[in-house]
Amino acid sequence: MNTGLQIWHPFTQEALDPAPLRITKAEGVYLHTEDGRRLIDGISSWWVNIHGHGHPAIVEAIAEQAAKVDHVLLAGFTHDAAEKLRTCLRKILPGNLSHLFFSDDGSTAVEVALKMAVQYWQNVGRAEKKGIVALDHAYHGDTAGAMSVGASSSFTDPFRELLFPVHRVHSAYCYRCPVGKTRATCAIDCVDQLRRLLEEKGREIAAVIVEPLLQGAGGMIVHPVEFLRRVRELCTEHDVLLIADEVLTGFGRCGTMFACELADIEPDIMCLSKGLTGGVLPMAATACTPRIHEAFVSKDRARTFYHGHSYTGNPIAAAAAVASCGIFEREPVFERIGTIIEIHRERLLAIKDHPAVGDIRAIGTMAAVELRADDPGYASNLRPKLYKFFIDHGVLLRPLGNIVYILPPYVITSEELNFVHDRVAEALDLCSS
Ligand SMILES: Cc1ncc(COP(=O)(O)O)c(C=O)c1O
Repeated sequence: MNTGLQIWHPFTQEALDPAPLRITKAEGVYLHTEDGRRLIDGISSWWVNIHGHGHPAIVEAIAEQAAKVDHVLLAGFTHDAAEKLRTCLRKILPGNLSHLFFSDDGSTAVEVALKMAVQYWQNVGRAEKKGIVALDHAYHGDTAGAMSVGASSSFTDPFRELLFPVHRVHSAYCYRCPVGKTRATCAIDCVDQLRRLLEEKGREIAAVIVEPLLQGAGGMIVHPVEFLRRVRELCTEHDVLLIADEVLTGFGRCGTMFACELADIEPDIMCLSKGLTGGVLPMAATACTPRIHEAFVSKDRARTFYHGHSYTGNPIAAAAAVASCGIFEREPVFERIGTIIEIHRERLLAIKDHPAVGDIRAIGTMAAVELRADDPGYASNLRPKLYKFFIDHGVLLRPLGNIVYILPPYVITSEELNFVHDRVAEALDLCSS
């Protein structure tokens, strides 16, 4: 017996970070610890949980499905749960997306999207179109392809030699504008870098990948909708595919079902995960347009999309996702989201002039405060100090360095959300003291 076997926790430095807290019950917005405390899950357990923990409709759907068909491979087989999920997503996905490719998590949804885009151009006889364009500050996951399109950071530095090269262009990070403008004077000048790149090299480029309107792990950076619109226009103009990574932004996070709707654009490929199953089981889907799918349908087997994971389309996860879609239909989810938006707006405005605050940003259910720091970035010393402060005060928030953000499950009450904002306001004094 291996008595020394331990759990290696993600994004954790054992030599510096506190020991993990043992959670014995998760219910609604609360995580209950073994030592009798309860924490408000202010980041929806890494941005996945949307309807609260232990929602009875999802719990029931999982139990029912597990007793029926627990798992079956999706190559050569299908099942009711995947078919029902297709029907649910058909009702909410932008109209030009016609095919769903299932995988396991956000990173694999991105890997699928990148491979789909590159092989698409090979299948249509334009193999020279293989370059990928990604934004500064991007984060698309931790697998090798997803890291390649992510911005270079301490997360990816050890693997630099393994990653494939991508064309990197400005993000619309207005607080730290890459072209030295202010929002009042700019005409989305930051997109010019992409325009010039596509004019010069569009013939060699397969796709542009973006986190639509909200770059998450890169610092909760909110883009003006015009930026996304211009990216869409440029992709269309230069016959380059647009991949919208809606892993974080999908399923109501930005105030509409998908962030792309806010800019009124339709991507060629869309990545979904996190909120897909209500945040209860791992599952992802990469959706594409008929044009892309058709290029893979051929008597020539070499055109097949040879990609799949053991658990692709898992029936239990699919049943949870169907139940989550049902909650959107039956419960006032967008009313709840509307209340969160209002509270975020009010509370951020109230702290915007605090000396510790550099910038406030909000979109949909996400509210962020970029703190002034001598050491900005993920490695900022503020991060462990703030994390401990929030945990000690009953809230799970994981600042991204000097950026504190709230991203709650939609079922959070006004009182609970104000409690979280109160703790953020208190933490500001901690930063300026
Ligand atoms: C936009 C985006 N894409 C992809 C991912 C990767 O998802 P996962 O952690 O499920 O692999 C994340 C995770 O935070 C994300 O925010």
